[in-house]
This record gives sequence, structure tokens and C-alpha cells, in this order.
Amino acid sequence: MAEIKKVAVIGAGTMGNGIVHVFAQNGFDVTMVDVRQEALDQARATIRGNMDRQIKKGALAEADRDAALRRIAAATDLAAVAGADLVVEAATENRDLKFRIFAEMDAHAPAHAILATNTSSISITEIAAQTKRPGQVIGMHFMNPVPVMKLVEIIRGLATTDETTRTTVALAEQLGKTVAEAQDYPGFVANRILMPMINEAVFCLMEGVAEAEAIDTVMKLGMNHPMGPLALADLIGLDTCLAIMEVLHSGLGDDKYRPCPLLRKYVAAGKLGRKTGEGFYNY
Ligand SMILES: NC(=O)c1ccc[n+]([C@@H]2O[C@H](COP(=O)([O-])OP(=O)(O)OC[C@H]3O[C@@H](n4cnc5c(N)ncnc54)[C@H](O)[C@@H]3O)[C@@H](O)[C@H]2O)c1
Repeated sequence: MAEIKKVAVIGAGTMGNGIVHVFAQNGFDVTMVDVRQEALDQARATIRGNMDRQIKKGALAEADRDAALRRIAAATDLAAVAGADLVVEAATENRDLKFRIFAEMDAHAPAHAILATNTSSISITEIAAQTKRPGQVIGMHFMNPVPVMKLVEIIRGLATTDETTRTTVALAEQLGKTVAEAQDYPGFVANRILMPMINEAVFCLMEGVAEAEAIDTVMKLGMNHPMGPLALADLIGLDTCLAIMEVLHSGLGDDKYRPCPLLRKYVAAGKLGRKTGEGFYNY
């Protein structure tokens, strides 16, 4: 099984910074790549802040935080994947963007490198087809917030080899995560089930069935969910939620997956949830 020592993470947003955090904390050298320098600066600050919280809880030593932060390098150019054994792509949930990134990554990454994507819903098989190494392309779907959430959904594309799968599963376990394997269908398992629930909660809000707080209270206290669906949508990002619904709708061709018009309206208004300070709630 290939040994993974150096990792590159593409996209330093909500998910990217969490993925960088867990790899660095577990002893990997990580290069984070984003087209926006401010995203890289913000990611470093967020990682430090989250590690400080772990220190306060007694879950991390100060010396280990400092060592982890030293293992993180940053770049604005995708060519920085040149030394990586594994690349995890966590850029914006957009099909054409991911296709371009994978074609470019394929040109720069070493021949042995595994190219993983954190996509929530886009076909692993189609992403893999943009490269000359489809056997080494796999879905590595972390959950938000990455340092806290145990699950990694591993998704095999049509061409993904057993060896790529074994290496990626072992790696996720090395990060202290639990793996669930899924096949490559729109939304895989996590978002095939989660996103229609969130979308239905937005329909309830739009139709005036209940206020946002009441909808979330029903799901928290009635179904024992740790967070209500609207608060969770704000955490995920409403643009990401809309993008996933579009993939389910077009990929499965069933109108039960049509995105709620109110979700579209919030995204059009730039109310994307926590990352913009406003969504179904204010932050
Ligand atoms: N937000 C969630 O809860 C969640 C959960 C699991 C998976 N995901 C998936 O993770 C991925 C990232 O989502 P996010 O919520 O972190 O998005 P985000 O908007 O917070 O961050 C995306 C980052 O990608 C960067 N980017 C855009 N184009 C780029 C390029 N060409 N090269 C490098 N960087 C580029 C952006 O500047 C931004 O910083 C998506 O595929 C999403 O579906 C999200």
C-alpha cells in the first residue's frame, strides 16, 4: 500500500481549513492551495483558533499545536501539488470548476499521487474522467466541522481501484475517522438523505408552516437531531445546499428533488449562512 506523507488540500474555505487541520494535527505535511490569498490567511487563523479551543478542553497540547501549525504551507498556485502523495480537493461545489482543477492537478501531481475530492454530490466517475489516472481518483467526503465529526464517506468511481480505496480508507482511519463506503450516485448516501430533508424544511418556512426556530425545535427535540435543519443549512452554506439539490434534481431526474424557491432567493441575495453572517439566522 502506498505511503502517504505529504498532502495538498485545494480550497481553504469552510471544509478546506478543517481538512488541513486534521491532517496537520496527525503529523502530515500539508500544503493548502486557494486562489484567494485572503482565504489562506483566514484558514490559518481559523485553524489556530480551533486548535486553541482544543487546548482549552485539554484535547491538545500547546507544543503539538505549534508543531501542527508549522507543518502547514500555503500557496495560490495549483502547481504546489507537485510534491504531494495525496491531494484532497475541497474547492467550491461547481462541476466545471472541479473538472478544470482535476485536469490541472493531474498535470502537476506526481504519477503515484491519489487525487481525492471532498465533493458533496458531483459524480466521482465524471471528475475522474478529466484525468489520465481515473483509477487513482476517489471521493473522500469529510463532514462539517471536520475536526469534530467522525465520519468520512468514501466513494468509489467506476474506475477507482481496490488499492486506491484501501489506501484512502486506511488514511481516514489514521486521522481517527470512521469510514462508510458508498457507490457513485448523485449525493452518495449522506446528501441523498440529508439535503431533501433540509430542502423540505425550507419549504415549510416558505409556506408558513412554522417559523425557523419552531421548525428547528421540532427536529431537535422531536427527532433528537443535535441541530435543526435550517441551522445546519446555515452551517453548510446555502449556496452549497442549492448546488447539491441541483445535482440531485438533474442526476436523478425526479421533481421531488427540486430546490425550494426560497433557498434560491437567499442564495441570490448573498445570504449564504454563517460564512456571510446571515442566512436563516443572523450570526
Ligand atoms: N460546507 C459543508 O458543510 C460541506 C460538507 C462536506 C463537503 N462539502 C464540499 O466541500 C467543498 C468545499 O465546500 P466549502 O463549504 O468549504 O466551500 P467554501 O465556499 O467555504 O470554500 C471554497 C473555497 O474554494 C476556493 N476556490 C475556488 N476556486 C478555486 C480554485 N480554482 N483553486 C483553489 N481554490 C479555489 C474558494 O476561494 C473558497 O475559499 C465542496 O465541494 C462542498 O460540496 C461541504
